[in-house]
Amino acid sequence: MEKWSSNIGFLFAAIGSAVGLGNIWRFPISVYENGGGAYLIPYLLITFLFGLPVMIVSISGGELTESDVVTTFKEIGTGQLGWVIVAAGAAILSFYLVVTGWILAFMAYFAFDLSFTFQRLTDGYIPVGLFLLSAVIVGGIVLFGIERGIERVSSILVPVLFVVLVGLLIYVSMQPGFMRGVRYFLNPDFSVLSDTELWIAAFGQAFFSLSLGAGTYITYGSYLEGKSSISKMSIIITVANIVSAIIVGLAIFPLVFKYLGNPSNLPSGQELAFTTLPHVFAEMPFGNLFGFVFFGLLLIAALSSGISILEVSVASGMGRGLSRKKSALIFGSLVTAIGLPSALSYSGANLTLGGKRIMDIVNQDIGNLLLPLSALIIGIGLTWVIDEKVTDFSFAYLVTKYLFPVILISTIIAKYI
Ligand code: TRP
Repeated sequence: MEKWSSNIGFLFAAIGSAVGLGNIWRFPISVYENGGGAYLIPYLLITFLFGLPVMIVSISGGELTESDVVTTFKEIGTGQLGWVIVAAGAAILSFYLVVTGWILAFMAYFAFDLSFTFQRLTDGYIPVGLFLLSAVIVGGIVLFGIERGIERVSSILVPVLFVVLVGLLIYVSMQPGFMRGVRYFLNPDFSVLSDTELWIAAFGQAFFSLSLGAGTYITYGSYLEGKSSISKMSIIITVANIVSAIIVGLAIFPLVFKYLGNPSNLPSGQELAFTTLPHVFAEMPFGNLFGFVFFGLLLIAALSSGISILEVSVASGMGRGLSRKKSALIFGSLVTAIGLPSALSYSGANLTLGGKRIMDIVNQDIGNLLLPLSALIIGIGLTWVIDEKVTDFSFAYLVTKYLFPVILISTIIAKYI
């Protein structure tokens, strides 16, 4: 059985998983779409009240069973339910790799002073090629295994990520107009807090951002040696995740306000990173360097999260007797096959279903159904079904056992009514 070389190695890998596109790409958009800094209240509440407990239970569950998700859920008597978790991860990774491809394109844009728009990029087939390249990179890292692949890569990328983030914040904080971005967080519109939709959005965002609900922590936890202080490590992961998201928000909003003016004219959704920010960088001094660094940051975040998602399925394949190499090849190819329609939907092929791009459909359905379902299986499986009490930390255990399923089921119902 493979193991992390140390708890620090695990921490880097877990923080690398949590800090991803969810923090750098989706978080600022979520804040922007949900009334500015007021959104931080539900976000932080949900993160600490629900996210952290579920994380502690998941890591503890993995450490206890020392197996992949499929084996774990078979052994506790839920048959093949573990595959739902694998499927949720595969679906997330499939569109994650498409976005990683766009990131590669924009890194080249700033490095070589190219000029294209997101629209023009996705009119051609380059995004599909870059999607395939991203799959090869992520699959390649996982192929090298826990210690020599995931741990080694994360232990380099995660420190670099935080150093660059802090550097970015220092630079932006010295620019005139910085306080406007800060005020955006500090003078929020509290009236939005009565909106249930906002709470649901914050719930989805917090869980996605913490990497909860797709088996990452069970799998990563299974590579821990016994006697690790899981609660302490979970707090570190959670705080690192929040800090990185807030730094990104503090660095991005002042720039957007300064160079593009009235934020109410801004496009939202995925446009923010791939349409709005290149505009901003084009207006700034040293914009190319800035753009390259920003998209480099996104790339690091995307890769260290992507490998954590693929590892869930690769470990499950290994649990069925495959070698790591075979499993990585099989699941890497499978995720690529699942992602191809999404990649094609943002290309010259413009693949749509009922007038919507496949990628947007996948993205929405995972968020609305597959990921919550998988999170529910994990929460209930590790507290109600399993015979042992996975953690001595009663608060985490009780929240995951009682409160979490109730909230999750009501959110799913609320979404569909
Ligand atoms: N947390 C990552 C992000 O913020 C994405 C991620 C990695 C993820 N592993 C996951 C999301 C498992 C859900 C489940 O982008």
